[in-house]
Amino acid sequence: MKGIVFTEFLDLVEDKFGLEMVDKIISQSKLESKGYYTAVGTYSFSEMLQLLQNLSLNTKISIDNLLLVFAEHFFSVLVRDYPSVIASYKDPIEMISSVESHIHVEVKKIYPNAELPTFTVVEKCNDYLSMIYKSGRAMHYFGLGLMKKTFEHFNTTAKIDFQKIKDDGTEVKFIIQKIT
Ligand code: HEM
Repeated sequence: MKGIVFTEFLDLVEDKFGLEMVDKIISQSKLESKGYYTAVGTYSFSEMLQLLQNLSLNTKISIDNLLLVFAEHFFSVLVRDYPSVIASYKDPIEMISSVESHIHVEVKKIYPNAELPTFTVVEKCNDYLSMIYKSGRAMHYFGLGLMKKTFEHFNTTAKIDFQKIKDDGTEVKFIIQKIT
């Protein structure tokens, strides 16, 4: 997992819960990196999982909710760091349905070792999109948060539902209905 995910995550933890919480979750986790992350580095996903698990234990907020809030923050990072990618879209359904075929393809060019999910579009029209998320990291709540923020970014709203195809969240169908 890319370092920028860790640096942004710990910044958000500091912002919401204070520096003591950052120190606490780092010391409660067994981290090969010792909690020193650089934005351009690459670290094991298990480090993120431990940080999330410990933050969840300390705050009593579920991992799913933590991932959702983190994704909403991460969207602003994407807008800040990749403005031209986002500016190439005029519509949220166009953007979300292009994550697999365009956006993450560009991400792979910048970071060849990025660990990305796959999104397969099932059905798409002007105000409706269904697609299947697959990833061993089961970060579908992170995807949900990014999708919600994508609609907000284009000053639109949507009803976004999902159904787990696999109970562990490694395969999830998203159903997105734009509200016009
Ligand atoms: C992960 C880039 C838009 C879904 C990531 C990662 C990067 C990235 C750098 C981390 C990879 C790693 O740690 O190795 C971008 C950029 C975007 C964008 C530059 C737009 C400018 C989106 C959107 C969605 C999405 C709109 C939702 C449909 C995800 C998910 C992950 C992820 C779910 C977590 C990894 C996983 O589930 O396996 N993305 N992304 N991304 N992205 Fe994107």
